[in-house]
Amino acid sequence: MILSIESSCDDSSIAVTEIKSKKLIFHKKISQDEHSQYGGVVPELASRLHAVTLPKILQETKEYFDKLKAIAVTNEPGLSVTLLEGVMMAKALSLSLDLPLIGVNHLKGHIYSLFIEKNDIFPLTILLVSGGHTQIIEAKNFDEMNLLASTLDDSFGESFDKVAKMLNLGYPGGPIVEKLAKNGDENAVKLPIPLINSKELAFSFSGLKNATRLEIEKEALTKKRVADICASFQSTATKHLLHKLKKVFRERDVKNFAIVGGASANGYLREKIEQLCIKNRAELLLSEIEFCSDNSAMVGRCAVEQYKKGDFTDIENLKVNSKFKEF
Ligand code: KG4
Ligand code: ZN
Repeated sequence: MILSIESSCDDSSIAVTEIKSKKLIFHKKISQDEHSQYGGVVPELASRLHAVTLPKILQETKEYFDKLKAIAVTNEPGLSVTLLEGVMMAKALSLSLDLPLIGVNHLKGHIYSLFIEKNDIFPLTILLVSGGHTQIIEAKNFDEMNLLASTLDDSFGESFDKVAKMLNLGYPGGPIVEKLAKNGDENAVKLPIPLINSKELAFSFSGLKNATRLEIEKEALTKKRVADICASFQSTATKHLLHKLKKVFRERDVKNFAIVGGASANGYLREKIEQLCIKNRAELLLSEIEFCSDNSAMVGRCAVEQYKKGDFTDIENLKVNSKFKEF
């Protein structure tokens, strides 16, 4: 079995995965509500909370210790101070239990959230939408993953968080905005679709966020007005993703398509992407909702592939990286 740790942002999570069967034996995640009052994650606070919750969860995995073959941990990309908490725990476990270490790329982890207790499927074109990243990835197999597009500024999930913050709705903004949007009219507020006249395969959400702010400041925020803003923002942000994805479908042979990352739990986005896939005769792969946002089960599943390849990292060489470099 592999014990996997995830602490790249504000979720403390540990899982145990059986290597041969890929079965998820244990999985627990504690999300930090403490950031809600700040309208976003406070890294130092998140780090201190991981230092309390990770050891608590670890206690519950002791019965599996003698069956472990490796310790896996997310080491990039993410918030450096929170990644460090998981990496320190992984190193301590690796030393005390005399087990090899596997450093897992957080974004590859999200891709493997599709394959919890399942075999992986390739080739695969992926839209990754989270709080930190918005990317289109073309994956031939585990080792050959090519970045086709990324964001020039904010990410898709982050823009939901910022709109929620401007409307004083709390954090994380994604699920709140999605819920309120259900009672709104998506055509009520005119917002500009980002990069609509650009042929570039890239994303941008900061202009849309600013346009939404101007609308928020324009008139009184009645319940109806808030719902209309949420619906119009969600629809415009999704239209932006679809506009760029249509270009990918036009120019490439997409057989299998997937959406992953925290924001891939959005039902409106799922519905629109499903229509796009049907139109283009592509198979759509989705993660179960519980595995969309950051979790250690996806890290463990990804680590199974790395274990099979002997992709281990020495304790001195396992470093934390806040930025995305490559797959
Ligand atoms: O993958 P994730 O848990 O953390 C990062 O790697 O960033 O994604 C968290 C992000 C947050 O920005 C959150 O607001 C967004 O995913 N999110 C959503 C929804 N659920 C979570 N965004 C839009 N609609 C949702 N239903
Ligand atoms: Zn994530």
